[in-house]
Amino acid sequence: MDYQELDNALQAVRKRWPEARPACGLILGSGWSDVAEAFTIRDTMPYTDIPGLGATGVVGHAGRLALAEYAGKETLIFQGRRHWYEGVGWTPIAIPVYLLKQLGASMLLVTNAAGGIREDLPPGTLMALDDHINFLGSHPLIGAHDPVWGPRFPDQTFIYKPELRAAMDRAAKAAEVPLKHGVYLAASGPTYETPAEIQFYKRIGADAVGMSTVPEALLANAAGLRVAGLSCITNFAAGILAQPLSHEEVTEATKEAMPRMKSFVLKFWEEITL
Ligand code: HPA
Repeated sequence: MDYQELDNALQAVRKRWPEARPACGLILGSGWSDVAEAFTIRDTMPYTDIPGLGATGVVGHAGRLALAEYAGKETLIFQGRRHWYEGVGWTPIAIPVYLLKQLGASMLLVTNAAGGIREDLPPGTLMALDDHINFLGSHPLIGAHDPVWGPRFPDQTFIYKPELRAAMDRAAKAAEVPLKHGVYLAASGPTYETPAEIQFYKRIGADAVGMSTVPEALLANAAGLRVAGLSCITNFAAGILAQPLSHEEVTEATKEAMPRMKSFVLKFWEEITL
């Protein structure tokens, strides 16, 4: 991780928004970007204005940071994320979490699109992350220890905070949006999984699979932020149906689910106490 780059990013945001004191953060993954429209947006800044963050380069990722507000909670919304499979290291992935930590936020909701492994997770389902499996083959905290990320060996027993998972259940009820819970497994991508890999992931306890979220969640948890995770299931994982997977399917499913994604996130913002 390049700490000089992390600080350059922080300076750029501080310069643009000297008054910003976000209480929480929202990272919007594939197909999630439009959820930002449900918030009151004060200002936005393209990722290209933030050193080290750069362009996302993935369809369905807007590449914009919004300073927003809802339910009295000032929020930094990251419309689009960087991925490990882009091959440019951990710095762009760590920047959103570093910014939130240094600007004083105490809670982060990380969202993604994922493939459903469990039978009761068809496309269009929202799934709260109860836990995760890091199958990326690497870890953003490998390297010299920096106290900004807490102790050398951060605990992950309650990585997705039980009280936030409970708030998600209340939000789902209030928004009348069905919500499932499950374990998310992050694989590196950029290929989708093989059917044999999905059978393996199922046996080791994964309910849904994707290529993101885990790095931001473990960094934020290590840094002392309370973390919540939310997947929009966009397809059945490879081999569950006898048909190939595509990114178009992912974008289509999030488009269909968008009204539920928006109303759920707003209710969740109303439910949480910071
Ligand atoms: N696998 C990996 N990542 C994904 C999937 C999937 O099936 N769907 C959406 N993102």
